[in-house]
Amino acid sequence: MRDLTSDTNTEAVLASLANTKDARLAEILESLVRHVRAFVHDVELTEEEWAHGVDFLTRTGQLCTPTRQEFILLSDVLGITMLVDALSHQRPADATQNSVLGPFFRDDRPHRADGADIAEGLPGVPLLFEGRVVDGEGAPVSGAAVDVWHSDADGHYDVDVPGRVDPAMRARFRTDVSGNFQFRSIRPSSYPIPGDGTVGELMSATDRSLMRPAHVHLLIEAPDSSG
Ligand SMILES: [Fe+2]
Repeated sequence: MRDLTSDTNTEAVLASLANTKDARLAEILESLVRHVRAFVHDVELTEEEWAHGVDFLTRTGQLCTPTRQEFILLSDVLGITMLVDALSHQRPADATQNSVLGPFFRDDRPHRADGADIAEGLPGVPLLFEGRVVDGEGAPVSGAAVDVWHSDADGHYDVDVPGRVDPAMRARFRTDVSGNFQFRSIRPSSYPIPGDGTVGELMSATDRSLMRPAHVHLLIEAPDSSG
């Protein structure tokens, strides 16, 4: 049996993958093997640490359900999701920074008229949000679709508000001829990412806060865009 422990034998491991037919898969596997083996060497990973890593990833997978995705959360807190998004959606330097869609977007949001109140009667501090969509040259974009969604005063999205079925604090608007749009709602609150799983363990071990600052999500699509 070949010795697969030394640096030079990375090539032996790669040779074992030589029959991979899909060229892209072969490229990804080769890079993955090289980087993971370099990582193990770099930190001189112990058997106990290897076992802990296997246990951590096993439990991360076991936490995943149709409504909870601990692996995506892990990807998020390690900056991987944002990196993939940035590589997939490169933008001009002066364009508004992109971000990930997140787990709270819903396809069934209502289309509302400019200025509408989307709080749907939920309690909270009144919010008036005014925005303007412009293109790369600063010219207004008329008829852009603007999706908005945010949490309530307790940090809950409508899907987590007890007893709530219909959408609230979310809607799709259209910009006017000047690129403007506005809506009324209630002020969102900061909220924590799930902290009762493996990602919570990681955040605790690295002394990071689980809280996200209060925010409003915006997803904007130009009228001539099919994206
Ligand atoms: Fe959010």
